[in-house]
Amino acid sequence: MTSPSPPTGSHATSLDLGGRTALVTGAAGGIGRACALRLAAAGAKVRAVDRDAEGLEALAALSGPLAGTLEARVLDLTDLDAAEQVAAGTDVLVNNAGIQLVRPVEEFPPEVFHTVLTVMLEAPFRLVRGALPHMYGQGWGRIVNISSVHGLRASAYKSAYVAAKHGLEGLSKTVALEGAPHGVTSNCVNPAYVRTPLVEKQIADQARAHGIPEERVVSEVLLQDSAVKRLIEPEEVAEAVAYLCGPQASFVTGTSLVLDGGWTAH
Ligand SMILES: NC(=O)c1ccc[n+]([C@@H]2O[C@H](COP(=O)([O-])OP(=O)(O)OC[C@H]3O[C@@H](n4cnc5c(N)ncnc54)[C@H](O)[C@@H]3O)[C@@H](O)[C@H]2O)c1
Repeated sequence: MTSPSPPTGSHATSLDLGGRTALVTGAAGGIGRACALRLAAAGAKVRAVDRDAEGLEALAALSGPLAGTLEARVLDLTDLDAAEQVAAGTDVLVNNAGIQLVRPVEEFPPEVFHTVLTVMLEAPFRLVRGALPHMYGQGWGRIVNISSVHGLRASAYKSAYVAAKHGLEGLSKTVALEGAPHGVTSNCVNPAYVRTPLVEKQIADQARAHGIPEERVVSEVLLQDSAVKRLIEPEEVAEAVAYLCGPQASFVTGTSLVLDGGWTAH
């Protein structure tokens, strides 16, 4: 059996965000970087937020057509007051920053559980809280929460991550109900395993937790439940975000756009 290839060439959704400001958290790498670039390519002025100053600098220093469209904001999202403030005045908010720790519940450090919930659930709440007054004032806004298959399904050894993502799904739906009369949509995007540093970093942990060699982790753990046997690329996730920001998605709210290669079809 051969692994299917990701799509090649340009299949970009038509999207014009000229005059709009978009904030993307976790923009220094992986999915966040791809989202920041995609929204900038659509004409948005992008506020790129991350705690990784070096990664943000590399993004903001891009030359070519996107030069000057990405503004770096170095921020650790555990500073919740700062998170709320940085979101003020944005038209599009992409809650993307995330962390992972793979450990059985009885060995999971409580302080890490707390940090995961803070970065991946409480900070999105505060960012939404900071963004809504401007969105409501102008009668338009787009909130996209990068959830996961783990917002809909659990996996062993990921208690904090699964709890945070399930919580994010609930937050997103509640914001959709409150935002609808103000022209604000709120949705989740739910990828299976994406080719990013977050996944590469967990391979050793997964091998240890499952008691198998690292080279068997991708096929036997990560892709076990996916009918399409490949990792998804960050740009494919960014394209789903672009779709949700466009006028064609104005009726799409309070839902989850699942990009899981058939995982949840089981
Ligand atoms: N990679 C996957 O397979 C996958 C699958 C489903 C969902 N997701 C979700 O996508 C999102 C992005 O994941 P990724 O794979 O691109 O990860 P990544 O590790 O490549 O990027 C995450 C970014 O978040 C930033 N970040 C982490 N903690 C932060 C904090 N306290 N303050 C500010 N920035 C912080 C990191 O510096 C990093 O740049 C996450 O929410 C993740 O849960 C990823």
